[in-house]
Amino acid sequence: MKVPFYDATREYNLYKKEFDNAVSDVIASGAFILGKQVQDFEEAICKYTGAKYSAGVANGSDALVIASDILNYKCDAEILTPVFTFFASASCIARLGAKPLFCDVDEDTFCMDMNDAAGRITKKTKGILPVHLFLQTADMTACMELAKKNNLTVLEDAAEAFGMKTLYNGDYKHAGTLGDFGVFSFFPTKTLGGYGDGGMIVTNDEELYKKAKSYRTHGSTIKYHHDYIGYNSRLDTLQAAILSVKLSRIDNAIQKRASHAAQYREMLKDIPQIKLPVVKNSNKEVNYVFCVKAEKRGELEEYLKSKNIGTSIYYPIPLHLQKCFDYLGYKKGDFPVSEKLCETVLALPMFPELTQDEVSFVCESIKEFYKK
Ligand SMILES: Cc1ncc(COP(=O)(O)O)c(C=O)c1O
Repeated sequence: MKVPFYDATREYNLYKKEFDNAVSDVIASGAFILGKQVQDFEEAICKYTGAKYSAGVANGSDALVIASDILNYKCDAEILTPVFTFFASASCIARLGAKPLFCDVDEDTFCMDMNDAAGRITKKTKGILPVHLFLQTADMTACMELAKKNNLTVLEDAAEAFGMKTLYNGDYKHAGTLGDFGVFSFFPTKTLGGYGDGGMIVTNDEELYKKAKSYRTHGSTIKYHHDYIGYNSRLDTLQAAILSVKLSRIDNAIQKRASHAAQYREMLKDIPQIKLPVVKNSNKEVNYVFCVKAEKRGELEEYLKSKNIGTSIYYPIPLHLQKCFDYLGYKKGDFPVSEKLCETVLALPMFPELTQDEVSFVCESIKEFYKK
């Protein structure tokens, strides 16, 4: 048996006709840039997540840069963000000249540790960029309280978090919809992934929305009239058409991920060398990535590879130890929880079309490895 870490072709083959029709409709219309399908998809995202406004952009990284720019994360501003995340969560801050004010993560949820973040706030701190990682959101109640108390704006990196929900003031809210801005990535492996790059900015603030829409087309609202120095970053119409097909059965896809996660949890629960993910803060999880903490991670990874099982390491190096951030002056030992996670986490295959037999094979192979 061969178990891929991720395989987009299985879903395509199941719903080929729908995807092909969606793509050919765009081509036949000839409207490739911000065509009708982009607007339809934006409306569907608002309906699904409860966000008031949304603007499709070229990818999640651009969404973060544009939102950071609009929130004025520039000059000597310091923005809190975790070190255990994808690079784009911090590069969006540094790119515009602001300083990433790094903080550690919670060892169970892998998300920003809000107590650690609170202790790092200075007079220059202007914003918080929490990241909702792998299967749950950061503690948004604590995050929003911290923001309110210190007069900070909040940019939620919900790139990985489509469909995740968190209990906030007694209601479940979608990831990305509590801060000033939230961003999603539609990178192919994501829970809502396209057939190429794609991203979205969501907000409940009309002024911020108008700016986001304008920034994605070179800061203009009227053609060739530029109010801001913006970007050229629009969600591709073909991707919007494909993503709409996917969004129409997203709950089913999330449910399938959940049943694979339940099988992993059941079959791996008695292996002392494996620590299963923990869900906290009344979060409603979505299993975008199923990450375990594994003893002898490197050897396990090799063993699974020899059995034709795909795995991945999210993330091998914490951001404060990335070469490009040397100038910030952090050193090894500064963020012990994140550093430890980088040495132990291993992501197992996770996508809706995995089969029960494949998940069993992965789990049996892990058991075999630790028995040896
Ligand atoms: C946490 C996080 N932030 C930002 C991004 C950037 O998204 P994209 O790859 O669409 O640019 C990703 C996706 O890879 C991510 O996982």
